Amino acid sequence: MSEMQILAVAINKGGAGKTMVTKCLSTAAAHIGLNVLILDMDTQQNATQWGRRRKDFNPLPIVRFTTENDLADELSRAEEAECDLVIIDTPPGRSTETPAAVEAADMIIVPFAPEVDHYEGIARIVRLARTTAKPAIGVLNLAEPNSQWEVSTARGVLSGIGLPFAPAVLHRFKIHKEASLKGMTAQELEPESRAAAEIADLWKFIYAELQVCNNAPLQKVAP
Ligand SMILES: Nc1ncnc2c1ncn2[C@@H]1O[C@H](COP(=O)(O)OP(=O)(O)O)[C@@H](O)[C@H]1O
Ligand SMILES: [Mg+2]
Repeated sequence: MSEMQILAVAINKGGAGKTMVTKCLSTAAAHIGLNVLILDMDTQQNATQWGRRRKDFNPLPIVRFTTENDLADELSRAEEAECDLVIIDTPPGRSTETPAAVEAADMIIVPFAPEVDHYEGIARIVRLARTTAKPAIGVLNLAEPNSQWEVSTARGVLSGIGLPFAPAVLHRFKIHKEASLKGMTAQELEPESRAAAEIADLWKFIYAELQVCNNAPLQKVAP
């Protein structure tokens, strides 16, 4: 059995796509047969509510709300239940949850919109990741479709901060909102869409990074 791996999705800015990325990556992982758990640490419980909307037609991934007090117990239970991957969704703003999630994680995913406020947020989460020596990856989200300028600017900013830039960029597509309303993800609602292809690329990249990170392949079960 390979080791359970933990991703924390974090940035102190609201609306960066933390919850969207959590839902999409966890669904992609569940679809290749991984045993996936979302731990929702945001008291707004957006991921938890999505899990409830979803349950009608697809019970996976499992979503549980947790606080930093229960995080260690939740992770032990997940390990006992032979979970392959835990993705922790974190709240915006200053919180005790985000440092706890970063501390527990093998890797930090930092989604951000191409805006100056978000760049400031990235610098902050990168400092936190560095204090714990955790690898972190920036994911540009909400880029305007067909705007190369935003992508090249974001790549330059991240290079200045010293945060690796995920080669898969997520553009602004309304299918993400439509899917969320139905308790789904873009790749489930419209598998042929560009939004779905971008999520597939991001998952492929993160999956490969996770193998390198722990030097132990995630358990892969035929779906
Ligand atoms: N790439 C995208 N295209 C379109 N809408 C998006 C995209 N990413 C996020 N959204 C929407 O933007 C809003 C904020 O995203 P969310 O994931 O809740 O951010 P956070 O969890 O960081 O606060 C949500 O309504 C979400 O559906
Ligand atoms: Mg959120």
